[in-house]
Amino acid sequence: MPTTTTEPTLFDLIGGAPAIEAAVSEFYRRIVADPQLAAFFEGVPMDRLARHQGAFLTAALRGETPPGAAAMLRRVHAGLGISDTDFDRVCCHLVATLQSLVVSDDLIGRIASGIVPLRSEIVAIAADPDATCAFPALR
Ligand code: HEM
Repeated sequence: MPTTTTEPTLFDLIGGAPAIEAAVSEFYRRIVADPQLAAFFEGVPMDRLARHQGAFLTAALRGETPPGAAAMLRRVHAGLGISDTDFDRVCCHLVATLQSLVVSDDLIGRIASGIVPLRSEIVAIAADPDATCAFPALR
Protein backbone atom coordinates (compact mmCIF):
# COMPACT_ATOMS: atom_id res chain seq x y z
CA MET A 1 0.00 0.00 0.00
CA PRO A 2 1.73 3.23 -1.08
CA THR A 3 2.01 5.88 1.59
CA THR A 4 1.03 9.49 0.94
CA THR A 5 3.70 10.90 3.26
CA THR A 6 6.76 12.13 1.39
CA GLU A 7 10.13 13.27 2.72
CA PRO A 8 10.21 17.04 3.22
CA THR A 9 12.26 18.75 0.51
CA LEU A 10 15.09 21.17 1.31
CA PHE A 11 12.64 23.88 0.27
CA ASP A 12 10.24 22.74 3.03
CA LEU A 13 13.03 22.30 5.57
CA ILE A 14 14.37 25.81 5.07
CA GLY A 15 10.91 27.23 5.81
CA GLY A 16 9.18 27.43 2.41
CA ALA A 17 8.42 30.54 0.38
CA PRO A 18 8.83 33.18 3.14
CA ALA A 19 12.31 31.87 4.01
CA ILE A 20 13.29 31.82 0.33
CA GLU A 21 12.08 35.39 -0.12
CA ALA A 22 14.12 36.56 2.87
CA ALA A 23 17.13 34.58 1.63
CA VAL A 24 16.96 36.04 -1.91
CA SER A 25 16.96 39.65 -0.76
CA GLU A 26 19.68 39.14 1.84
CA PHE A 27 21.81 37.13 -0.62
CA TYR A 28 21.43 39.83 -3.29
CA ARG A 29 22.25 42.62 -0.79
CA ARG A 30 25.46 40.81 0.21
CA ILE A 31 26.63 40.18 -3.36
CA VAL A 32 26.23 43.75 -4.61
CA ALA A 33 27.88 45.07 -1.43
CA ASP A 34 30.95 42.87 -2.05
CA PRO A 35 33.58 44.93 -3.92
CA GLN A 36 35.02 41.77 -5.54
CA LEU A 37 31.65 40.74 -6.98
CA ALA A 38 29.71 43.95 -7.61
CA ALA A 39 31.39 44.60 -10.98
CA PHE A 40 30.07 41.31 -12.42
CA PHE A 41 26.50 42.40 -11.85
CA GLU A 42 26.84 46.11 -12.73
CA GLY A 43 24.61 47.00 -15.67
CA VAL A 44 22.84 43.62 -15.67
CA PRO A 45 19.09 44.35 -15.91
CA MET A 46 17.09 43.78 -12.74
CA ASP A 47 14.93 41.00 -14.23
CA ARG A 48 18.01 39.03 -15.26
CA LEU A 49 19.50 39.53 -11.78
CA ALA A 50 16.31 38.30 -10.17
CA ARG A 51 16.37 35.22 -12.42
CA HIS A 52 20.01 34.74 -11.42
CA GLN A 53 19.35 34.66 -7.68
CA GLY A 54 16.32 32.45 -8.25
CA ALA A 55 18.30 30.01 -10.41
CA PHE A 56 21.12 29.92 -7.89
CA LEU A 57 18.87 29.12 -4.96
CA THR A 58 16.81 26.64 -6.96
CA ALA A 59 20.00 24.78 -7.94
CA ALA A 60 21.07 24.77 -4.30
CA LEU A 61 17.76 23.49 -3.01
CA ARG A 62 17.13 20.95 -5.75
CA GLY A 63 20.50 19.30 -5.19
CA GLU A 64 20.74 18.04 -8.77
CA THR A 65 21.26 19.49 -12.23
CA PRO A 66 18.41 18.93 -14.71
CA PRO A 67 19.33 17.84 -18.27
CA GLY A 68 20.60 20.76 -20.33
CA ALA A 69 21.24 23.00 -17.33
CA ALA A 70 24.99 22.45 -17.26
CA ALA A 71 25.37 23.53 -20.90
CA MET A 72 23.11 26.55 -20.33
CA LEU A 73 25.15 27.63 -17.27
CA ARG A 74 28.38 27.23 -19.22
CA ARG A 75 26.98 29.39 -22.04
CA VAL A 76 25.62 32.25 -19.89
CA HIS A 77 28.80 32.52 -17.81
CA ALA A 78 31.32 32.06 -20.65
CA GLY A 79 33.45 35.16 -21.11
CA LEU A 80 32.58 36.67 -17.72
CA GLY A 81 35.99 35.62 -16.37
CA ILE A 82 34.64 34.20 -13.10
CA SER A 83 37.43 32.72 -10.93
CA ASP A 84 37.27 29.99 -8.32
CA THR A 85 37.65 32.70 -5.69
CA ASP A 86 34.62 34.58 -7.09
CA PHE A 87 32.62 31.35 -7.05
CA ASP A 88 33.68 30.70 -3.43
CA ARG A 89 32.69 34.21 -2.41
CA VAL A 90 29.20 33.82 -3.90
CA CYS A 91 28.84 30.46 -2.11
CA CYS A 92 30.07 31.97 1.15
CA HIS A 93 27.48 34.75 0.83
CA LEU A 94 24.86 32.05 0.46
CA VAL A 95 26.16 30.31 3.61
CA ALA A 96 26.26 33.61 5.56
CA THR A 97 22.72 34.41 4.38
CA LEU A 98 21.42 31.04 5.56
CA GLN A 99 23.29 31.39 8.87
CA SER A 100 21.67 34.80 9.39
CA LEU A 101 18.31 33.07 8.94
CA VAL A 102 19.35 30.54 11.63
CA VAL A 103 19.40 27.56 9.25
CA SER A 104 21.34 24.66 10.82
CA ASP A 105 24.87 23.81 9.64
CA ASP A 106 23.67 20.36 8.64
CA LEU A 107 21.01 21.81 6.35
CA ILE A 108 23.41 24.45 4.99
CA GLY A 109 25.82 21.63 4.14
CA ARG A 110 23.11 19.81 2.20
CA ILE A 111 22.14 23.02 0.39
CA ALA A 112 25.78 23.84 -0.47
CA SER A 113 26.17 20.34 -1.99
CA GLY A 114 23.68 21.35 -4.70
CA ILE A 115 25.88 24.24 -5.82
CA VAL A 116 29.37 22.75 -5.66
CA PRO A 117 28.98 20.37 -8.67
CA LEU A 118 28.17 23.40 -10.87
CA ARG A 119 31.54 25.03 -10.21
CA SER A 120 33.16 23.62 -13.37
CA GLU A 121 30.39 25.09 -15.56
CA ILE A 122 30.72 28.60 -14.10
CA VAL A 123 34.41 29.12 -13.40
CA ALA A 124 36.73 30.21 -16.22
CA ILE A 125 39.91 31.00 -14.26
CA ALA A 126 42.01 28.47 -12.33
CA ALA A 127 42.01 28.23 -8.55
CA ASP A 128 43.91 30.56 -6.26
CA PRO A 129 45.52 28.11 -3.80
CA ASP A 130 45.46 30.75 -1.02
CA ALA A 131 41.73 31.34 -1.30
CA THR A 132 39.74 29.23 1.10
CA CYS A 133 36.19 29.24 2.29
CA ALA A 134 35.60 28.42 5.91
CA PHE A 135 32.57 26.26 5.23
CA PRO A 136 33.71 22.62 4.81
CA ALA A 137 30.88 21.52 2.50
CA LEU A 138 32.14 23.95 -0.15
CA ARG A 139 35.47 22.17 -0.54
C1 HEM B 1 25.75 27.53 -9.22
C2 HEM B 1 25.94 28.80 -9.36
C3 HEM B 1 25.24 29.68 -10.38
C4 HEM B 1 24.04 29.50 -11.05
C5 HEM B 1 23.04 28.33 -10.91
C6 HEM B 1 23.88 30.64 -11.92
C7 HEM B 1 22.80 30.82 -12.79
C8 HEM B 1 22.70 31.83 -13.73
C9 HEM B 1 21.65 31.95 -14.72
C10 HEM B 1 20.47 30.97 -14.91
C11 HEM B 1 21.89 33.08 -15.44
C12 HEM B 1 21.04 33.63 -16.61
C13 HEM B 1 20.04 34.62 -16.07
C14 HEM B 1 19.12 35.10 -17.19
O1 HEM B 1 19.49 36.00 -17.93
O2 HEM B 1 18.03 34.54 -17.32
C15 HEM B 1 23.10 33.68 -14.90
C16 HEM B 1 23.66 34.86 -15.36
C17 HEM B 1 24.72 35.51 -14.75
N1 HEM B 1 25.54 35.01 -13.75
FE1 HEM B 1 25.25 33.27 -12.76
N2 HEM B 1 24.95 31.50 -11.76
C18 HEM B 1 25.81 30.95 -10.84
C19 HEM B 1 27.00 31.50 -10.39
C20 HEM B 1 27.49 32.73 -10.72
C21 HEM B 1 28.69 33.36 -10.17
C22 HEM B 1 29.61 32.68 -9.14
C23 HEM B 1 28.79 34.59 -10.74
C24 HEM B 1 29.82 35.70 -10.55
C25 HEM B 1 30.70 35.75 -9.61
C26 HEM B 1 27.70 34.75 -11.68
C27 HEM B 1 27.46 35.86 -12.46
C28 HEM B 1 26.47 35.96 -13.41
C29 HEM B 1 26.25 37.16 -14.22
C30 HEM B 1 27.07 38.46 -14.16
C31 HEM B 1 25.15 36.87 -15.07
C32 HEM B 1 24.50 37.80 -16.09
C33 HEM B 1 25.11 37.68 -17.44
C34 HEM B 1 24.34 38.59 -18.39
O3 HEM B 1 23.13 38.45 -18.47
O4 HEM B 1 24.99 39.42 -18.98
N3 HEM B 1 26.93 33.59 -11.64
N4 HEM B 1 23.58 32.91 -13.88
